Amino acid sequence: RRLYVPIDSGALSLGAEETAAAIVAEAARRGIAVDIVRNGSRGLYWLEPMVEVLTSHGRIAYGPVQAEDVPALFDAGFLDGAPHRLGHGLTEHIPFLAGQERLTFARVGIVDPLCLDDYRANGGFDGLARAAAMTPAEVVQEVTDSGLRGRGGAAFPTGIKWKTVLGTPAAQKYVCCNADEGDSGTFSDRMLMEGDPYCLIEGMAIAGLAVGATQGYIYVRSEYPRAFRTLEQAIDRARAAGYLGPDVLGSGRAFELEARMGAGAYICGEETSMLESLEGKRGVVRAKPPLPAIAGLFGQPTVINNVMSLASVPVILARGAAFYRDYGMGRSHGTLPFQLAGNIRHGGLVEKAFGITLRELLYDYGGGTASGRPIRAVQVGGPLGAYVPESQFDVPLDYEQYAAMGAMIGHGGLVVFDDRADMAKLARYAMEFCAEESCGKCTPCRIGSTRGAEVLDRILDARAHHRPAGKELALLESLCDTMLNGSLCALGGMTPYPVLSALKHFPRDFGAQDKSAP
Ligand code: NAI
Ligand code: SF4
Repeated sequence: RRLYVPIDSGALSLGAEETAAAIVAEAARRGIAVDIVRNGSRGLYWLEPMVEVLTSHGRIAYGPVQAEDVPALFDAGFLDGAPHRLGHGLTEHIPFLAGQERLTFARVGIVDPLCLDDYRANGGFDGLARAAAMTPAEVVQEVTDSGLRGRGGAAFPTGIKWKTVLGTPAAQKYVCCNADEGDSGTFSDRMLMEGDPYCLIEGMAIAGLAVGATQGYIYVRSEYPRAFRTLEQAIDRARAAGYLGPDVLGSGRAFELEARMGAGAYICGEETSMLESLEGKRGVVRAKPPLPAIAGLFGQPTVINNVMSLASVPVILARGAAFYRDYGMGRSHGTLPFQLAGNIRHGGLVEKAFGITLRELLYDYGGGTASGRPIRAVQVGGPLGAYVPESQFDVPLDYEQYAAMGAMIGHGGLVVFDDRADMAKLARYAMEFCAEESCGKCTPCRIGSTRGAEVLDRILDARAHHRPAGKELALLESLCDTMLNGSLCALGGMTPYPVLSALKHFPRDFGAQDKSAP
């Protein structure tokens, strides 16, 4: 009798450990032998803890299963996949999952995260094997041809970045994975590291072979201790099996890998701060140029990619650039794991090709708000992303189309707000967040964010007392302009996105006239 109970942080926070223990205890009481695989989450967080039972038809899902539900499930015959009020039928047929295009998350929730046999049985290491038989330039070309762009948020073409590192001569090169997933409402990096760590390891090994780097680091945020431990164990096992080490898969080329724990600062997700932190220094932004691809970790050419970018590489090498490139639209090729969070009924992970609309994600997958009230705005792309109003829900999620409307897709996080959201207070929060997390290196961000919060306080005060706030609003726009154009990095440079989008689309919340009103 095989069952699956996730060991992913999200599922654990909802009681998966207690559920697993209750299943073991109940099975023992009834004299039934059970084999519980602790898998990653399938990403249907509203059903966690989700228990899957392996039957001759496939896996049958039950959820959310709390420890106290377990005896009744046994009584109902759930080990044979019998119907129950918590039953959802075949996992693969649950509409939330059935409509997805899972390339990067193809194995998450399906495999036992640390089992190498499971990984290999599901296509794992096919990409690395192919890369090991290719020249570095061929691997870089394959990634370039796939159209993969940086999934951390900036969407820079991954192949071009690798080409720069490959073409920069140096005795030592590095591959650094940015796993400092700090955006609000995002969890795809964590889900992958906890649910399919070999996928990231394989992607990094391919990057190492492609650019001639022999050492890699995964910089994991300190808030992700479970992901960190899972990676450490997976790295040891991958090394013992010859996928890492002095001679990767008999290629004659070396690639070593270590996981490093971050120190708990949002700014360490900015690539140059991350390098400082990895070097043992305080996480402060470095001026660019030089680009890290030319002079990165310890001054050496360094590939820095997000977890999602690197985890997309194995399938590209295994199935070929054309296969991956066929997904998506325009210049946004492939898929993106969107993360539904905030006030949403079905929160979780939806991997879809670019081109899907927000409306489809919010209603077809998300099922609308958890509160049952209308959606007012969605913050797309983390705390530095714009607030998207309902009038823009039908714009396809494509990097260029989002940029054209003054928004960004970023790391794919969607935080949903219902009609009770106060957009002026959310704008103030954006400034406060920037003030809190600023590294302090440049003035527009260090001082501007604090002044921005103060201006917004005055706007809120004017609103409360029905006073005009025109002067303060003009000041806010001018301050945003300075931050946008004068900041050294994206933290100060993009904080105006949520502020200005809130002001533009919801002017009445700021006590201003609605310019779009008739
Ligand atoms: P950027 O546009 O400056 O750079 C993007 C990447 O391309 C960098 O790795 C840069 O070194 C590289 N690059 C640029 N030109 C290059 C060239 N000619 N050759 C080789 N490499 C080159 O953007 P940045 O500041 O790295 O990232 C900003 C983005 O980060 C934002 O758009 C935001 O979406 C995202 N972000 C993500 C967060 C997360 O938790 N995932 C948190 C905060 C922001
Ligand atoms: Fe530091 Fe802010 Fe300037 Fe970025 S914009 S370098 S976080 S002070």
